[in-house]
Amino acid sequence: MKRILTIVGARPQFIKAAAISHAISDLYADRLQEDILHTGQHYDTNMSGTFFEELSIPRPKYNLSVGSASHGAQTAAMIEGIEKVLLSEGYDGVLVYGDTNSTLAGALAAAKLCVPVYHVEAGLRSFNKTMPEELNRVLTDHASTILFAPTQTAVHNLRNEGFAEADVVLSGDVMLDNVRRYGALAERQAVLPFGAERMVLATVHRNFNTDNSEHLKSILAALCAVAEGHDAHVLFPLHPRTRQCLGSMIDRLQSERLHIVEPLGYLQTLLALRRSKLVLTDSGGLQKEAFFCGRGCVVMRQETEWTEIVDCGAALLADADADAIVSAADRLWNADVASPTQFGDGHAAEYILDAIINA
Ligand code: UD1
Repeated sequence: MKRILTIVGARPQFIKAAAISHAISDLYADRLQEDILHTGQHYDTNMSGTFFEELSIPRPKYNLSVGSASHGAQTAAMIEGIEKVLLSEGYDGVLVYGDTNSTLAGALAAAKLCVPVYHVEAGLRSFNKTMPEELNRVLTDHASTILFAPTQTAVHNLRNEGFAEADVVLSGDVMLDNVRRYGALAERQAVLPFGAERMVLATVHRNFNTDNSEHLKSILAALCAVAEGHDAHVLFPLHPRTRQCLGSMIDRLQSERLHIVEPLGYLQTLLALRRSKLVLTDSGGLQKEAFFCGRGCVVMRQETEWTEIVDCGAALLADADADAIVSAADRLWNADVASPTQFGDGHAAEYILDAIINA
């Protein structure tokens, strides 16, 4: 029996970890035992606890409760806490997900103790090193033992950086596993805070948009213009970072067409995607989920790691430029979105666990 430690801390990781935890309990319980460590990077109920409940993720055995701090302080506190846990328990490997500070902390703490690191969502690149996420993902990949690439593009990026073929596994994307697993449940159980016939789902949380008031103003103007132009309503769940940046402006921004709400749960997000005509976002995860649900997506960034979605015409890059966002929304309003064959077959968690067990 192998024992692994799953390290999570931020919202997208709870969602990815759910796919793996369910595959372990459904199919691999006789060969693999998983403990979960929550760094506490995200701590609000609607950024953390909600996801454990609705996705039935096992309760974390450890919670470091690091909370918010500067990148250095936050990452350092996580490394220290994870190292203590790894020293006190003999895990056979550590599973990390994506590109957050929690991912990097888990990978560094484990690699320095020679505990194998398994990186789910390896090989993603924006080629923009001013993004904290880009540094996190590059450094995590280079500390990893097995790199689980969700797409062929990710495999290609890793091969270009000199990774050995044997260390890279093309697994497909665990987020596609989840969209397939939870779609029907979302339809049955989830309730949206707002619904309309012609709805757009929008989210903003990247530091280059939230911490730049010109970007934020331009994005908000674009959301209103898209709603007016298409006689539509925008559902705008607000990330805590964005809420802090908008401050007292939030009350004035609420309008007949712009519906600012608390962060949605996972099932609510899936339902909102299924009910929306279009998605406007700077999130990496939501870009993919929009694609998996057959929705066009305006990416409010200069570049994306998920180039295959842009390449097949289901997403357009528009940065924080109001005119570009509106014209991309016009072009994608009635988009015919191809099926997401580039992201695997919906069984990524099983390929990942097979590789870990056989390592
Ligand atoms: C982090 C990840 C990002 C991921 C995102 C998903 C890094 C560098 N970034 O960004 O890759 O896409 O999570 O949400 O790891 N806050 C709260 N309550 C919470 C969590 C955060 O109020 O539960 C506030 C804090 O004031 C904090 C700010 O939001 O300072 C930003 O949180 P942080 O974890 O630093 O980064 P995110 O922007 O959430």
